[in-house]
Amino acid sequence: MCDADLKCTKLYSKDLNIAFMLDFSNNGREAMPSKRIILDEDEVPKQWYCILPDLPKPLPPFIDPQTKEPGGGVAPKIFPKQILAQEFSQERWIDIPGEVRDVYQMWRPTPLIRAVRLEKALGTPAKIYYKYEGVSPTGSHKPNTAVAQAYYNMKEGIKRLATETGAGQWGSALSFGCMMFGLKCTVYMVKVSYQQKPYRRIMMESFGAEVYPSPSDKTEAGRKILKEDPDNPGSLGIAISEAVEDALVHEDTNYGIGSVFNHVLLHQTVIGLESKKQMEVAGDYPDLVIGCIGGGSSFSGLFWPFYHDKVSKKAPKDVNFLAVEPTACPSVTKGEYTFDHGDTARITPLVPMHTLGHDYIPPPIHAGGLRYHGIAPTISLLASTGHLRTVAYNQVEVFEAAKLFIQTEGIIPAPEPAHAIKAAVDEALKCKKTGEKKVILFNLCGHGHFDMQAYADFLSGKLQPYEYPAKKVEEAMQRLRKLYPWLDEVKKKYIG
Ligand SMILES: Cc1ncc(COP(=O)(O)O)c(C=O)c1O
Repeated sequence: MCDADLKCTKLYSKDLNIAFMLDFSNNGREAMPSKRIILDEDEVPKQWYCILPDLPKPLPPFIDPQTKEPGGGVAPKIFPKQILAQEFSQERWIDIPGEVRDVYQMWRPTPLIRAVRLEKALGTPAKIYYKYEGVSPTGSHKPNTAVAQAYYNMKEGIKRLATETGAGQWGSALSFGCMMFGLKCTVYMVKVSYQQKPYRRIMMESFGAEVYPSPSDKTEAGRKILKEDPDNPGSLGIAISEAVEDALVHEDTNYGIGSVFNHVLLHQTVIGLESKKQMEVAGDYPDLVIGCIGGGSSFSGLFWPFYHDKVSKKAPKDVNFLAVEPTACPSVTKGEYTFDHGDTARITPLVPMHTLGHDYIPPPIHAGGLRYHGIAPTISLLASTGHLRTVAYNQVEVFEAAKLFIQTEGIIPAPEPAHAIKAAVDEALKCKKTGEKKVILFNLCGHGHFDMQAYADFLSGKLQPYEYPAKKVEEAMQRLRKLYPWLDEVKKKYIG
């Protein structure tokens, strides 16, 4: 067994003392230069890319459960006109307003980094690159859309935005975006995260936001749930119900959403557009683009521009896409592709997506941002047509991969992108077996500086490799069909 093999085996074992196996000093061996590709400030993209005109078939519509017909339900009451136009845009390229670009330039373009030390530790012939979004003011990709949403709402005279947050990343981002454009911000934070992550709450409050644990007594939806179950730990579905209700009952307030919707995903394409330029500088092009999926925004932000290359036959080689989710919340790998509400209280219309059921209560896994019962409709469509692959990993194997990454690349990833790291490592190890020199690109969409409790639990062996049972999904789908006996008819008509 060669030196690199030995290291890799040790690194990827459960040995907690792997740091001792690592010696990256040169000591007479080949040098290992750092490979960071940085663009100039003025290379922040001037347009976002919208995938809708390039989809293999039209996106099924939202369905109004009252009429069983296509309809956006509450959407026109809670979003500004520009955002609604972007949601359904058939324009491929949408100009980024100057004021939004100015704010982006506070941290963009973000670096693209070749993971030379990780490659070496794995002994793989594959090249691994990651786009690092953790350098934003709040530590993730989320401000890319938060800033844009705050801007369009400000332009249309809105004074306050309400939103939900799971792990706190999205709430922090919208608080930041609102602060940039002089809006107030109210965040309903899933109760279990509110308790686990006080520093995220303090970050939001530092940006000037008000933060409530959800379910809260501030809304009808929250009060109803608390009455039935005072100890309810909360879920993203419940927090969305509260935020949407808040926006509906207050004239000066709109709703900001952190993922799932097309306009959010398209705002995130600055990630992939920059990455394309950076890969060009590196003289490479990815064979495989990997990202974690909660609602699907960070992964879409990275892969959409490469997908555009592929469908417009501009890609220099066949590029493939891999989405990664937790086994505790396997929306695509175990969920059903049908119509379901985006929230627990059923305020939103029925969305065409893979779902575990809108009444899903997630097990308390640490990747809080990946605990949503549904997924972006574009991801569902592309998964169903075979344009992207999906894989699920449990949190223990994910944290093992994160540890390997930390001890080679030196960055502590958020638990969400650690799922992408796990997939990148597995793909690189496959290359080691086959000898393929694949180029792998993944989205390191946030740092884990507020996730130390998760790392503490992992290091002390407390994390459990939880798998969401298929039976629970079946039961949730039965409840959904009982609620809407016409569901299969509508599904057949629009989804097929
Ligand atoms: C760091 C990070 N990554 C990923 C996600 C998942 O969301 P999405 O799939 O929309 O990127 C979240 C959600 O909060 C997050 O905070």
